Amino acid sequence: MRIEPFALERFFAEHEFGAQHVLCASDCETLSVRELLAMEPGADEAFAALRLGYTETAGGPALRKEIASLYEGIAADDILVFAGAEEGIFLFMNAVLSSGDHLIVHSPCYQSLISVAAAAGCRVTRWDALAENGWTPDPGQLEREITPATRALVVNFPHNPTGHLPEKGAFTAIADLARRNGLLLFSDEVYRLLEYEEGDRLPAACEIYENGVSLGVMSKAFGLAGLRLGWAACRNHDVLGAMAGFKDYTTICTAAPSEFLAALALRRRGLILARNLEIIRGNLRILDEFLARHEHQFSWQRPHAGPVAFPAVRFAAASDDFCAGLLRECGVLLAPGRLFGAAPEHFRIGFGRRDFRRGLEAVSGHMREKPA
Ligand SMILES: Cc1ncc(COP(=O)(O)O)c(C=O)c1O
Repeated sequence: MRIEPFALERFFAEHEFGAQHVLCASDCETLSVRELLAMEPGADEAFAALRLGYTETAGGPALRKEIASLYEGIAADDILVFAGAEEGIFLFMNAVLSSGDHLIVHSPCYQSLISVAAAAGCRVTRWDALAENGWTPDPGQLEREITPATRALVVNFPHNPTGHLPEKGAFTAIADLARRNGLLLFSDEVYRLLEYEEGDRLPAACEIYENGVSLGVMSKAFGLAGLRLGWAACRNHDVLGAMAGFKDYTTICTAAPSEFLAALALRRRGLILARNLEIIRGNLRILDEFLARHEHQFSWQRPHAGPVAFPAVRFAAASDDFCAGLLRECGVLLAPGRLFGAAPEHFRIGFGRRDFRRGLEAVSGHMREKPA
């Protein structure tokens, strides 16, 4: 298999652990093992006694039950667990799609949603979301792009990198369009549960569509990326079965300590999500003030969910030089728009972590020294 380099992940591999302020992370503030274990009486003893054998290929029953409880009308049998959302994307594109299939992918996007499919021999059309439309992709374009070879629609709401969240009706219309055309709906929902207004939360694709695949993960809303634990929720067991069969050749099963800690975090999700949303809301206020002060230098569409936004520089056609200068001179890491395959004047900023204010102060200092 030949696959193009993953621009964003290569960028992180080069800079993430050397930068002083990582201001483009897409996850929430993490927890230590100790903090997590302290959330449930007896958990530390149980964790110490955990046996480190193989786990069930589909994921442990207790874990799958907790994951299923995130959805309406979804049972433990409708869940397949794997190593991070990234493995889920790889499994779906390779096991469920075939070479020559056409798919339509919401763009800009997390690159693997396009590159893995392309490497599997699929033809990919981008469904473009534009800043001038508030990052709402055009439903008319989606309908026009469907051909007899189209097999799947791929969407990501809440969206990385823009934080866009459509109205419920618009999302249901996408599921209806998929149903009318006999298409699978692969719905990357890794930022779900981070809506700023709970009432804005979309139904999961797996709830409203029998051929909807909802992709979830512990990395983002829960801040537990180090567990490397994700899942697909889907009522079509042919789809889940194909993904499980491919997984026999990738990871076979997930790590027992990760399953234990993920199940615990899901049982205590009220606490963890409340903490993370509080951090996001506080940081968003700081970002609001910063962007209001620098209105002549940056434009943006305020996000509706999640820990990322995608502002644009007004003073250049691309954000690359601005991001490179910030890293070189202040140690601040922002992710240029080109890493998301579109909108080069934009950059991703992440505000899910506690040290956000300090990083943004460094950006403010840089802007004072070098007004653009
Ligand atoms: C939209 C989207 N999908 C999938 C992933 C992969 O998640 P994980 O790193 O947990 O595998 C990411 C990570 O940034 C993402 O932003």
